[in-house]
Amino acid sequence: MKILNGTALAKKIKLVLAIEIEYLMKKHERAPKLCIILVGDDPVSISYVQNKKKSCNEIGILCDLSILPYSTTQDELLALIETLNNHVDVDGILVQLPLPKHIDQTVVLQAIDYKKDVDGLHPMNVGLLNISPDAIIPCTPKGILSLLKAEDIPITGKHCVIIGRSNLVGKPMAQLMLRENASVTVCHSKTKDLACLTQQGEILIIAIGHRQLVNADMLKEGAVVVDVGINNVDGKLVGDIYNSIDVTNIEKKAAAITPVPGGVGPMTIASLLENVVEVYKRSVRNEE
Ligand code: GUN
Repeated sequence: MKILNGTALAKKIKLVLAIEIEYLMKKHERAPKLCIILVGDDPVSISYVQNKKKSCNEIGILCDLSILPYSTTQDELLALIETLNNHVDVDGILVQLPLPKHIDQTVVLQAIDYKKDVDGLHPMNVGLLNISPDAIIPCTPKGILSLLKAEDIPITGKHCVIIGRSNLVGKPMAQLMLRENASVTVCHSKTKDLACLTQQGEILIIAIGHRQLVNADMLKEGAVVVDVGINNVDGKLVGDIYNSIDVTNIEKKAAAITPVPGGVGPMTIASLLENVVEVYKRSVRNEE
């Protein structure tokens, strides 16, 4: 079974981006800039946003991280987004999810200027993904596709089964795989006879955030398995299927799998960096 190494590919992508940014900075006399907003003090979200900021800084992207108190009101958050929308030196805006319950996520995501929406979650970018090659693509699906392509995994004509229908991963992943000429099935918590569908997946993407829902019996022989799950078990990171109790049977059955950690996670960050550089390039092009 082949291990699809996201850490190695993300490192390569970052090296290439760093060189490109150095060139662009000299040409346009300013660095790309991302503003990240986190509301609340959830430790997992804090570590995610700090990781994003660190990765930006490593390759020459300026990154402002605002960690706002949990009590921040929706109006206060919208006012901050409005300020950043109007700031010409801010290329990208990312509001870390989930938001506190008293804030309407849909209203907030719609308030971000879609040209600065590096997450690809604004309705304009969601729509563009369906009809245009120019959409800003959500980072996790984009990273998964880059990894599959870099590993020469054939996609055209393959049956891709996705477990999970979130706006962040499942739904955009389905659109992206359709665009790549796969036949796509999306399963979710209400799907009846999940195993019957997963057993048909030549590419199986597990993005439901539920550990050990899928076992080796549910895989097609020779499947390429993408594990989006991140679970902390006794201080150790494991996936939804990777490093599960069924590990030897999965190794026998799957042709390839993304590890956790070191698979989808680093690719999500690399894709975010690519999106920041893309929105920056579009912005400086407009300034010319
Ligand atoms: N929370 C977990 N993953 C993500 C992501 O990719 N973007 C945002 N904005 N929030 C997240």
